[in-house]
Amino acid sequence: MPVYPSQVMIEGQRYAFHRILKDDFFSRNLLYKNQANEGYVLKLSDFRFVLGWLFRPLTGWISRREYRIYQMVSDLPGIPALGPRYGKRGYFHRFIEGHTLHEIEKRIQDQFNVVVGDPLIAKYATSLAPDFFDQLRVIVQAVHRRRIFYADLNKRGNIICSTEGKPYLIDFQICLLIPVRQGWMGTLTEKIFQRLIREDLYHLYKHKHTFQPQMLSEKERHLAQRTDLNRAYRRYLWRPYIVVKRLIYPHGSNETIWYKWKKEKDQSPRMS
Ligand SMILES: Nc1ncnc2c1ncn2[C@@H]1O[C@H](COP(=O)(O)OP(=O)(O)OP(=O)(O)O)[C@@H](O)[C@H]1O
Ligand SMILES: [Mg+2]
Repeated sequence: MPVYPSQVMIEGQRYAFHRILKDDFFSRNLLYKNQANEGYVLKLSDFRFVLGWLFRPLTGWISRREYRIYQMVSDLPGIPALGPRYGKRGYFHRFIEGHTLHEIEKRIQDQFNVVVGDPLIAKYATSLAPDFFDQLRVIVQAVHRRRIFYADLNKRGNIICSTEGKPYLIDFQICLLIPVRQGWMGTLTEKIFQRLIREDLYHLYKHKHTFQPQMLSEKERHLAQRTDLNRAYRRYLWRPYIVVKRLIYPHGSNETIWYKWKKEKDQSPRMS
């Protein structure tokens, strides 16, 4: 039984289910389109492993929290407009026709048989506007001005290049709101916030280094260097997490959903 609607009404218009954009262990992203071929994405938070339904209060909280943060930035250029909520664990936002940086990189790798990090990726990444990363920096800095640490810029699936070559930022699930404090707490909070902002910028310029290294200024090249905080994060959190994750599902979470428990072949579209 489908857990998502076959059609929905948004602002007086009918949108019909079009296709699944991404479907994994923790969520589903579904594309709906109207007759004018305009789209909305329905992001449903749902843990899809065995007994995952027990976590529904948690996934509801995750979705509501993401929606609240999204509301704080949805008026910014470069962020798809926000739509209504759907049920307890979902919400709509505007679909951006284009490709994520992850898709662009993957397509180049497949087409030209190059590996991750190959300088040839930059040569073939011609769909990005020359000032793509400058525009992306403006978006990220506007998010920072709303006192939000974006935190997930490492993921190239969160950055979309529209068919016009413009950047869009999605996925506000793990963003952190930084409160305004007074006195010494205020000084400390600002210091921490500045370190976190530096982390977002590190990932931004790391992507620029991959796709447009010839456009990096000296300052940006410096910002694209891994920070001490990032090194510590990778050593003490990221690597142990990956080791445990690979023990559970070596080739991605979908295999756990589909073939480990249901003994079926993977049927889900992956981020291509
Ligand atoms: N507004 C949108 N326009 C175009 N594509 C989108 C949009 N929202 C989501 N997608 C597609 O769905 C994918 C997943 O979206 P999103 O990152 O919001 O979901 P997620 O469940 O948090 O995924 P992940 O955990 O992998 O980051 C994106 O990488 C992109 O391919
Ligand atoms: Mg994402």
